[in-house]
Amino acid sequence: MARRKQIYEGKAKILFEGPEPGTLIQYFKDDATAFNNQKRAVLEGKGVLNNRISEFVMLGLERIGVPTHFIRRLNMREQLIRHVEIIPLEVVVRNVAAGSIVKRLGLEDGAALPRSVIEFYYKNDALGDPLVAEEHITAFNWATPQEIDDMMSLALRVNDFLAGLFTGVGIKLVDFKIEFGRQYEGDLMRIVVADEISPDSCRLWDMESGDIMDKDRFRKDMGGVTEAYREVARRLGVLRDVEGAGARGPVLVSDNEK
Ligand code: TMP
Ligand code: ASP
Repeated sequence: MARRKQIYEGKAKILFEGPEPGTLIQYFKDDATAFNNQKRAVLEGKGVLNNRISEFVMLGLERIGVPTHFIRRLNMREQLIRHVEIIPLEVVVRNVAAGSIVKRLGLEDGAALPRSVIEFYYKNDALGDPLVAEEHITAFNWATPQEIDDMMSLALRVNDFLAGLFTGVGIKLVDFKIEFGRQYEGDLMRIVVADEISPDSCRLWDMESGDIMDKDRFRKDMGGVTEAYREVARRLGVLRDVEGAGARGPVLVSDNEK
């Protein structure tokens, strides 16, 4: 097979030219970074797990009518996606106080917020992705007021979907980050959920024990990162074909499959 043309390499993913116009292939690396690339590691099997978890979430979103860039998973590390124009914003939805909002507003870590809070960060590594207001977004033309409205209502629908999904498997959705893209079809344009939704981009706490099951394990040097991601995948029921991702030693399969 001819070598595919690389379009872009990010911190955790690579984008290649897709098989048809308007498509791309999104490859999930095992690389983990935090604090704007200051902390780095390779976590064996993380890419495989995030590919599967993100596929599962994106398919669920499509099913409830939230448009996404996802077309289909191709293999263990790759998925076919629609080529979209990424809006340069990270949209964060918070249900519980954790992370940067705790420091910024002097909140108690783990306190429920009075309601879900949406924040926008300007996607710019050199500036460390600063928090911005709608005023900045419209003044600098990163998105129009209509697009901001669309992103906010989609972000809340994603929040409701994810909160329900994770509650069902004993996990509290503390917060998450999503990105949006503009998908053009002839003269029409629509805003779709892009990038990935995985334990790299969510805060997930076990409801019983309070255990951290997301990238904070890496940020805080807690260890057991891929093990936690694998447990998230297992609870969502997507682990079957990723057994062995980052695991050592033999893998037990159910008796009737032997
Ligand atoms: P924060 O509390 O550090 O602002 O993070 C909020 C949420 O966004 C949390 O779920 C982690 C996620 N996030 C990313 O996905 N990428 C980032 O670069 C940052 C800073 C946070
Ligand atoms: N994704 C960001 C980075 O790589 C920060 C983070 O997730 O903490 O540096």
